Amino acid sequence: MRRKLIAGNWKMNGSLAANAALLSEIKGAAGQPACDVAVCVPAPYLSQCQSLLEGSAIRWGGQDASLHESGAYTGEVSCSMLADFACGYVIVGHSERRTYHGETDELVAGKAVRALKSGIAPIVCVGESLEQREAGKTDEVVGAQIDAVLAVLSAEEIAGIVVAYEPVWAIGTGRTATPQMAQDVHAMLRAKLRAKNPAAADAVKILYGGSMKPDNAADLLAMADIDGGLIGGASLKAADFLAIIRAA
Ligand code: G3P
Repeated sequence: MRRKLIAGNWKMNGSLAANAALLSEIKGAAGQPACDVAVCVPAPYLSQCQSLLEGSAIRWGGQDASLHESGAYTGEVSCSMLADFACGYVIVGHSERRTYHGETDELVAGKAVRALKSGIAPIVCVGESLEQREAGKTDEVVGAQIDAVLAVLSAEEIAGIVVAYEPVWAIGTGRTATPQMAQDVHAMLRAKLRAKNPAAADAVKILYGGSMKPDNAADLLAMADIDGGLIGGASLKAADFLAIIRAA
């Protein structure tokens, strides 16, 4: 049985005061959870996270990283900079970045490679739009997204990644995929991981993201290939995030 991971994605939310209250409540109540826990925060808050969470069971990470190690890339944050703040994870390829910033499958794959080189686990996001699902193209679209990553990783390297299936139509909408819908895609992703590295594939965590809430988390997390959640809105409320952690 894979140890599950519940990771919060705060997106562009937070303040020093609100973060301190939220993290203090989560850290205090989570204790030694039965799953791995992380929060992926806006870059300006990484130092605060490190100060408040170091020594606790909660890890922290970024929400994006540059393809480049360093240089004339104004506004970008490199993986080595994330490593300076002891980040354990970095989200790459979130649908909001694919949509708003034109991130391609190949760019996302390169960011995953860069993260691994810095000793950071990339949480590689994949997912289809409602139009693509309704056109029966979910496996084609999501399969191509993960294939682009597997194409540039060695068999050994895939052991270091986390995958997050986030149907775009479920993100922030309150319209969650059914456990079986999600499991079907997770099983397809697992099969692709197994084809790349049969020995490591079963240890790779495949998270579900898209309106995972306290009232649906247990049913989703009970599915064979759902190894945790990537949580948006519910990660900003201590009680909800803790309830999802307890469901894992
Ligand atoms: O990255 C996780 C996020 O996209 C899911 O957001 O608010 O639907 O849990 P939410």
